[in-house]
Amino acid sequence: MEGQAEGHRLLAQEAANPSAARLRLTGLKEGHHAADIGCGAGAVTLAMADLVGPGGAVVAVDQSDERLVLAQDQLRGAAHVTFARASLPNTGLPGETFDYVWCQFVLEYLRTPAVALAELQRLAKPGGRVVVSEIDGFGLACWPESPVVEAGKPIFLRALASTGFDLFIGRKLYGLFREVGLSDVRVHLSPFHVTAGSADEQLLADWRTRFDTLAPVMVPAFGQEAAYRDFARAYLEVLADPQAFKYSVILTVEGTRR
Ligand SMILES: C[S@@+](CC[C@H](N)C(=O)[O-])C[C@H]1O[C@@H](n2cnc3c(N)ncnc32)[C@H](O)[C@@H]1O
Repeated sequence: MEGQAEGHRLLAQEAANPSAARLRLTGLKEGHHAADIGCGAGAVTLAMADLVGPGGAVVAVDQSDERLVLAQDQLRGAAHVTFARASLPNTGLPGETFDYVWCQFVLEYLRTPAVALAELQRLAKPGGRVVVSEIDGFGLACWPESPVVEAGKPIFLRALASTGFDLFIGRKLYGLFREVGLSDVRVHLSPFHVTAGSADEQLLADWRTRFDTLAPVMVPAFGQEAAYRDFARAYLEVLADPQAFKYSVILTVEGTRR
């Protein structure tokens, strides 16, 4: 998901579902030296900068120059925030540096999430907290079901998985945290979208963008452009249906570096 529109979508997403409560819940405090890995447009970095205050520091890291420009724009005037262009799983940042390492909606894209998580752990000071926030089955929970969507779902999910994107990364995090050796691992579940009735225009626009972005992968998987477009249209109809209920969750997992 690249482009300016995606950067603005990330800012709108944070505005609709602020992360400050989850940052506090997982231990981010005033004075902390924190990292936001895969900071995107800087929406969460802003909340982190507020929580640590001018006596703390935040390093915002992303692999995309375009995102870092947007993030710098968001954080203009926050002298305790710095930026670095770096990529998981090898950020090249110095180890044992941070009291708190945050990474949201990034591991879902990575084929080797355990290696990336080990890198997040390396960045934390001994006793520091590593926190990963992720989707789990995003967009799948809807009632009533549409026959066209249900018929297309296995094709859609297989094609998505073939890109390396893991729609179910959230449920795997607890085991991964333990596997890499993080201790005191805790899991928090919170709502992401709760849509009773018609989705708002923002959510519908997000999904139109997603369907368009995925077309190069999905059209060959569905066999014909028309079949994919029918699937997308049926999904958007469920989202817009005033009678339908849809929801999705965020799983936020925290662990301590030994
Ligand atoms: C869906 S956005 C999430 C942004 C932000 N964490 C948030 O919650 O708003 C994913 C971000 O991760 C970045 N990203 C993807 N793969 C990455 C990698 N291997 N290393 C660093 N950043 C990465 C992308 O450039 C993008 O800005």
